[in-house]
Amino acid sequence: MPTHQTVLLVGGTGRTGHRVLEQLLSRGASVRVIVRSPHKLRDSAAENPNLAVVEADLLSLSDDEVRCHLRGCDAVISCLGHVVSFRGVFGPPRDLVMQATARLCRGVEALQPPDPLKFVLMSSVSVNHPGGLDTRRGMFEKMIVWMLRGLVPPARDSQQAADFLWRNIGTANPFVQWVAVRPDTLLEGDVSDYALHEGLVSSLFAPASTNMANVAHFICELVANPKTWGTWKGKLPVIVNATSSKS
Ligand SMILES: NC(=O)c1ccc[n+]([C@@H]2O[C@H](COP(=O)([O-])OP(=O)(O)OC[C@H]3O[C@@H](n4cnc5c(N)ncnc54)[C@H](OP(=O)(O)O)[C@@H]3O)[C@@H](O)[C@H]2O)c1
Repeated sequence: MPTHQTVLLVGGTGRTGHRVLEQLLSRGASVRVIVRSPHKLRDSAAENPNLAVVEADLLSLSDDEVRCHLRGCDAVISCLGHVVSFRGVFGPPRDLVMQATARLCRGVEALQPPDPLKFVLMSSVSVNHPGGLDTRRGMFEKMIVWMLRGLVPPARDSQQAADFLWRNIGTANPFVQWVAVRPDTLLEGDVSDYALHEGLVSSLFAPASTNMANVAHFICELVANPKTWGTWKGKLPVIVNATSSKS
């Protein structure tokens, strides 16, 4: 579905983020990206007149600057993730996704838009639905996930960001509505058939797979299609390739 909305995207240089960026632009959206390294943007996107590039480290921006970049946006998408290196995983900022989520959502609340702004977080199936609403994990798997969160900062970070949306933003916020998209093991590949589920459909020991292009497609549908947004707002949908769906 095409869209003429204005979208702020963070993490737009990442493996999934650049696909989100390309798909948003191809649907006609106006996109603002906040990136540390503009040279990492694909030429096809960088040359698009509907793209505005802000070169900055998101977490170093002042609250005023964050509000300035949010002003006039209909939606915000975060595809941030920790760089896969020792420093990226164990160095600061250990709470990158959580901090970015909180700063962006608080920035929107401060702006008090007349209609709620859509916030889409790229999350993961390693994240539990807050409030114990995922029933599929067994005790042993829960223990492994709990240990992972203790040992691997990005796992803890992703859970804290989802918890923040559920507990601190909630589902009746007048200024921010949100969806936390939970893909399984990320794969290359084109957009294909995919399935959406309210809860987990696989285990850490027998993972399903999700094309990054499908994550990008669903995120763009959330932003562009009011019906899709109405179905998933305030939820943590699990997205898997149709071929690996195990419901
Ligand atoms: N890998 C998987 O199988 C998997 C599965 C499910 C979910 N996920 C989740 O999906 C999300 C995105 O994954 P991905 O693999 O697409 O991401 P990615 O390719 O690692 O991209 C990460 C993005 O975050 C940015 N970033 C990293 N550290 C930053 C910092 N300190 N300040 C500002 N920006 C920073 C990167 O910018 P630069 O280009 O400047 O570094 C990049 O744009 C992650 O949260 C991940 O946990 C991953």
